[in-house]
Parts: sequence; C-alpha cells; structure tokens
Amino acid sequence: MVHRSQGRATLGGKLSAVLVAAGSSVGLGNIWRFPYVVGENGGGAFLVIYVLCVLLFGLPIMLAEFSVGRASHRNAVGAYRKLDRRWKFLGYNGVLAAFLILGFYFVVSGWTAEYMVQSVTGGLAHCTAPEQYAAFFEGFIAHPWRPLVYTGLFILATHVIIAMGVQKGIERSSKLLMPLLLVVLLALAVHSLLMPGGGEGLRFLFRPDFSKVTPATVLVAMGQAFFSLSIGLGTMVTYASYFKPETDLRKTAFNVTLLDTLVAVLAGVVIFPAVFSVGIAPTSGPSLVFITLPGIFNGMPLSMVWSTVFFLLLVIAALTSTLSLHEVLTAYMQEEWGLSRRRAAWTTTAATAALGALASLSLGVLGGWKICGLNIFDSLDYLTANILLPAGGFVTCIFVGWFMDRRKFEAQITNNGAFRAWFFVALRWLLRYFCPVVLLLMFLDNLKVFH
Ligand code: TRP
Repeated sequence: MVHRSQGRATLGGKLSAVLVAAGSSVGLGNIWRFPYVVGENGGGAFLVIYVLCVLLFGLPIMLAEFSVGRASHRNAVGAYRKLDRRWKFLGYNGVLAAFLILGFYFVVSGWTAEYMVQSVTGGLAHCTAPEQYAAFFEGFIAHPWRPLVYTGLFILATHVIIAMGVQKGIERSSKLLMPLLLVVLLALAVHSLLMPGGGEGLRFLFRPDFSKVTPATVLVAMGQAFFSLSIGLGTMVTYASYFKPETDLRKTAFNVTLLDTLVAVLAGVVIFPAVFSVGIAPTSGPSLVFITLPGIFNGMPLSMVWSTVFFLLLVIAALTSTLSLHEVLTAYMQEEWGLSRRRAAWTTTAATAALGALASLSLGVLGGWKICGLNIFDSLDYLTANILLPAGGFVTCIFVGWFMDRRKFEAQITNNGAFRAWFFVALRWLLRYFCPVVLLLMFLDNLKVFH
C-alpha cells in the first residue's frame, strides 16, 4: 500500500475553504431533494426539525470532519487510519456511500442538463397544464436512452474537472455561481409569491403542524440535513485535508451551514407557492421540482431566459457537488491504492457510470428490479440519506468525541490556541453525549425496538 502525502494540493489564497465546502454542500440536495422531502413530510413542522438538525448535528459533525481532515491531511480512509487504525472502517463507509450517492445523483444531474437544453430549444413551451409537465417528465426519465446520454455527459464533465486537479477545477465555477444562484433564486421567489393562491404554499412551508411528526420524520430530517451539508461520508474530511493551517474551521463551518440552509429555504419559497397555485400535489416525490419549475417559468416574461439561466445554475451547483463526491473516491484510490490521479479518476468514473446507468434505467425499462419494494434509484437515495449518512455521522461523533486525542482536536478547532476554548468545550459535549445518544435512539426507534 502506498501512502502518499507529500506533494498534496493545498487550497490557495483565492480558493477559500468556504467556497469549495459550500460548492459541495449547495447542490441538488437543496433545490431538488429538500422541497420534495418537505412536501412528503408535511411542511412547516418538518422545516423546524430540519433546522434543529442542522444546528445541533450538522454543524458539530461538520467541525468534527474538518478536524479529522486537517489533522491528518489524508483521504477519508487514510485520515482515520492515520489517527487511529481501528477506525478506518468509517472511511470505508464513506467511500461506499459516496459511490452509492453518485449512482443516483448523476442521474438527477443529467435531468437538470436535459431541462437546460429543453429551455434553450423551447421544448417545454408547449406545456401549460400540470399534467403536461408531469407527462413530459415521466416520458423523459423512462426513455430508454435519452437520460443516459445526459447522465453520461455529466459524468464526463465531472471527470474532466477532477482530472485537472483540486486547485484549478473547482474555484472558478464556485466563485461566480454562489452569488448568481442566490440572486436568481430571490427573483424567482418574488415571482412565486405573487402567484395567485401562493399564500397557501407559504403557510404549508412555514406554519408547523406537529401533529404529523413521528420519530421517522426526525430521521428523514436528519438524513436530509446530512445529505444537504455533505457530511457523514468523509467529503468534508477530504476537503479539509486541503485546507491551510490558518483557516478558521468554526467560521468556515458556520458560513457553509448558513448558506446551505438559506438556499434550501429559498428553494422552498420558490416551489411551494407555485405548487399550490398550479395545483400540484406537494407529495409528488422526486419529480416535484421538475414538474413545478417549468410552470413557474412559463408564467414569466422572458421565460426562456429565466429557465435557461436557472437550469444552468442548477447544473453548475450539481457539478460542484458531484466533484466533491468523485474526489472522495479518487483521493482514496490515489492515496490508498497508489494509483495515478488519472487512473484513480477513470476507475471512479467507470464504476459510477455503471451504477448510474442502472439507476437511470430503473425508472424505465428496469422498473421491475426492486430492493425491499423500491426501485434501484429510490433505494440508493433511501439507503444513503437515511441510513449510511446518519450512521457515518454517529460513528464520527463517537470517534472524535471519545477516541481522537483531545489536544489534537482542540488544536484544530482553536487553531493551536489562537481562539478561545469555550466553544470547543460545548462542541465536544455535543459530540460526546448529545448527538450520539439522539442518533442512536432514532435508529433504534426506526428498527421498531420500542414498539
Ligand atoms: N450536499 C450535496 C447536495 O446537497 C450532495 C453531496 C455532495 C453530498 N457531497 C456529499 C451528500 C457528501 C452527502 C455526503 O446536493
């Protein structure tokens, strides 16, 4: 086994830590997954639980992953092995989860690319009623080869950027994208709010009805928080391994979390008024955004421009996220298997392309292949977000809270004593007691231990 650590990339001055980490976090999880999960789980109450999960679990675990990454300067598996051999299984859990997520994430990314192209060519313009948007979407995802082409192109784009290396690839896209995405989302939100009947959507999103909440809802909210923040599988370990010593991990984690949550809530403000105004069921599942958004655009002046810009931004947001997932696998193979970066990247690309093809086809011709009643696409989504990520988060808490050298951890959080330590004490308490206990109870409840 080759353990390479010299000559590793560091994120340069311009490429700030916040930017790459936010690039990873902000993605389809915010704009595609968040609205449909909120819709399926009853709205406002879910949003409240989600925000609590982000603050009490997301932020501490992101800081834990940052510390592990920067303390070890390794890929996800190598990082845990370096700090404590017994915990490298946690890295493998991450590598596996990254692979499985990419399997369906690339497919949805392909859809966004298709919608971007359709926006330019006016392919969606003939639709006016919600049923037509739904029919267009269903027809597209079940098509035997069209989605495969877009998914393939998306995988190639990710591959090319990854092969160029950490520093060059990610910076330019992220820097322009984040502000632009926020501006477009804000404009769309204003438009949505003005739609007739949109107020009902806002009530759905912001008025909590806790009678619908079950412990299972909490697990789904937790899974969504982990997915959206890119934690639980070592992405942040891998990225933080490229951070500079003077990066303030606390500020970085706080800014990333804030930005990520802001984008998700804004996406909700765009989608739900339109959902209720047009009469689409909020429980439509993964298709929700794809059948709602074109309807929003069609009602706007210059609809083609809005729609093209929006889907372009979504494509780029998805790309900065697939890069981070791909990087977890590529860095792992490069450093642990001793492959060249090119080879590692190609191996990752080929493996994820195969899985992505299966996931894509499972929405059409392979629809009969079920795992526990779910098709391949849905089971990849469910397994990673609701099981592997929270489980990875749980073990991360146990490792960093109980087993990682306290001084090493503190040195990362306070940059060797440059900042005060009260924050560290609170953080460590959350990681040692609060987070693991709640996560464990939730899992046990889900396995019906208490019923
Ligand atoms: N967070 C990204 C999104 O919201 C997806 C993602 C990238 C991710 N890296 C991850 C999810 C690591 C979980 C773990 O779209």
